[in-house]
Amino acid sequence: MTETTRRAVMFGAGGAGLAAVLTACASYGVPTTQAEVEQPAQEPSSDAPESDAPKKQGESKAKALADTSDIPEGGGKVFENQKIVVTQPTAGEFKAFSAVCTHQGCTVAGVSNKTINCPCHGSKFSIADGSVAAGPAGSPLEEKPINVDGGKIRLA
Ligand code: FES
Repeated sequence: MTETTRRAVMFGAGGAGLAAVLTACASYGVPTTQAEVEQPAQEPSSDAPESDAPKKQGESKAKALADTSDIPEGGGKVFENQKIVVTQPTAGEFKAFSAVCTHQGCTVAGVSNKTINCPCHGSKFSIADGSVAAGPAGSPLEEKPINVDGGKIRLA
């Protein structure tokens, strides 16, 4: 019984090898659907590590919101796409806040006279800490952590 089983296993393995050879011959001689599918499937997987690397580099670059020189001292700048406002309340001190007004969710439009200003109903927020300087908003803009390094401002 044991020997029969062993033979069956060996024969089975030999059969599998033979099948592989036959498949290889078939795909070599006649272009089969299977061979056509296998070849393109291998190419993207070998390219995958290469395409991943540039993406990671691009992501880290994309995180830079602005150069410090873009942000005026005593003022700030709204980044509408990121919904972030970056301010420089005092020389060399940078802050970032959500640009979404806490009143009814409009995006703040700009920074002037040391306040971040919402165009919808006139709320104003301090550039120093996002606190409400004028209503109707009742709560401050959410502060966002940032890193300032090498003249670049990035979200932390
Ligand atoms: S949504 Fe900004 S003041 Fe109303």
